[in-house]
Amino acid sequence: MDLKVEFETHFGIAHTRWATHGVPSAVNSHPQRSDKGNEFVVIHNGIITNYKDLRKFLESKGYEFESETDTETIAKLIKYVFDNRETEDITFSTLVERVIQQLEGAFALVFKSIHYPGEAVATRRGSPLLIGVRSKYKLSTEQIPILYRTGICNSFLHLLGTLENVKNICKTRMKRLDSSACLHAVGDKAVEFFFASDASAIIEHTNRVIFLEDDDIAAVADGKLSIHRVKRSASDDPSRAIQTLQMELQQIMKGNFSAFMQKEIFEQPESVFNTMRGRVNFETNTVLLGGLKDHLKEIRRCRRLIVIGCGTSYHAAVATRQVLEELTELPVMVELASDFLDRNTPVFRDDVCFFISQSGETADTLLALRYCKDRRALTVGVTNTVGSSISRETDCGVHINAGPEIGVASTKAYTSQFISLVMFGLMMSEDRISLQNRRQEIIRGLRSLPVFFFFFFCLCLHLQRQSLLVMGRGYNYATCLEGALKIKEITYMHSEGILAGELKHGPLALIDKQMPVIMVIMKDPCFAKCQNALQQVTARQGRPIILCSKDDTESSKFAYKMIELPHTVDCLQGILSVIPLQLLSFHLAVLRGYDVDFPRNLAKSVTVE
Ligand code: G6P
Repeated sequence: MDLKVEFETHFGIAHTRWATHGVPSAVNSHPQRSDKGNEFVVIHNGIITNYKDLRKFLESKGYEFESETDTETIAKLIKYVFDNRETEDITFSTLVERVIQQLEGAFALVFKSIHYPGEAVATRRGSPLLIGVRSKYKLSTEQIPILYRTGICNSFLHLLGTLENVKNICKTRMKRLDSSACLHAVGDKAVEFFFASDASAIIEHTNRVIFLEDDDIAAVADGKLSIHRVKRSASDDPSRAIQTLQMELQQIMKGNFSAFMQKEIFEQPESVFNTMRGRVNFETNTVLLGGLKDHLKEIRRCRRLIVIGCGTSYHAAVATRQVLEELTELPVMVELASDFLDRNTPVFRDDVCFFISQSGETADTLLALRYCKDRRALTVGVTNTVGSSISRETDCGVHINAGPEIGVASTKAYTSQFISLVMFGLMMSEDRISLQNRRQEIIRGLRSLPVFFFFFFCLCLHLQRQSLLVMGRGYNYATCLEGALKIKEITYMHSEGILAGELKHGPLALIDKQMPVIMVIMKDPCFAKCQNALQQVTARQGRPIILCSKDDTESSKFAYKMIELPHTVDCLQGILSVIPLQLLSFHLAVLRGYDVDFPRNLAKSVTVE
């Protein structure tokens, strides 16, 4: 479908929605409307958890619903509030303010209405929302003061620029990226404003953004922006700063690659270097993470480290758990955010909780962060997105600096998260005499990583079965989990990462001549145990493809096919061994004719629980 449609208008709203309520269909698409006359329309990223009660109430008032979405209740609710207003001159943002007081759940919303021509109102709670600001001229301010309903300030702030004609608001890329809510407004003598849930959706227009906080209500009327909040709390910042993002448009273009995922796999020599840049000193064997240095003492005194994430980010935690325990000499728990919350895991004020998230917006991870904050633990963010909710809400953190990742299946963020956690371990162990040799070994390994990457970039495997098992143990287990996840995500083929130590407790039953098996076997402390697993597999006529060290003559005897990997220090090996699996999933998906960057049913940043 060609989405490059031109409109003669200066305002537009659009949203690509990851279906939460109702099937993907025209009637469930956004904007949702209050009535057939489109008196109010709204786009929504998130989930309204009390929508059933609201819907029941509105139905009892005679409203007829056309979709199965939770969002439609918002459109109807605002009309209800409008129809029952006590004064004629109620403002659009006051209506929105009243509506959100009734909403439970997570949302980023943008409203338009025929009753308020030339205006749009946006708000958020729990889901991300930022405002891009573009002007040819220097703005009169870099801070947008917050207006409080109960406060004294009642004049709107005017950001003045010149009028530029804007057409073409619904560009293909805005649709394709995880832009969620997107609005583009130009008024007389106005600056242009873009509302979006992700900076990559607007970066082609501007790199100057304001990040909205929960319950902020931002209104654009006649080209002027104002932000207000209902209540002021002691911790509230009384203004929102216009920040300049370091992102370049070219970083979110595919260039010569056929897919973003492919580009991102091949960017890894550079992205891992950027993660280490200015932080690892290879001359003095020291590591300095500026965002953590003031908290090191506190971290060293903590009861335990809890590393929390979802999907690939969780795998980065699994991959580095052992080396973190070794270098920090602290107990390390790794947790899937949703499970951590479901269990109401006990957390104490002397815990240090790490939140790993590429986007910095994953709802489960964000909720886990708030849960740990409430229990007064020190919170540390490890994200790839400057200004994201997780990076703003944590006490301190590390930006992994991998550059924007567009492909839904995470690749370069994984290796950079991995390295960031290793760097943290190295920084923690700087004073430990007994660990100096080990530290040097790891730092030498980090130095040579970018070179090793080039070794892989000619790999292509052809596997066309319905299932694929990926096995390993010790340091390699996370590689198996992550490789299997990549295969599931983009090839739609069943795949399972198996801890080789568990083989005899179940998975062995699956092994026969037909079952594709990949085994990750490295010359590390688990090598001998992996040989046992390998023999168990071949004894059942399994034909394993083995990812192994270059000089491994033992495993090669049993391999159906071998992929030799450059050998690096055991705890960093996973950064290299995941690459053939990333490439394998990419090539399998291409062979099957799938859209690698936009796999069905998945979203790049999952901002709903
Ligand atoms: C989604 C993405 C995955 C990602 C996970 C966690 O499921 O499709 O690629 O690993 O979310 O995302 P985060 O942004 O928190 O790392």
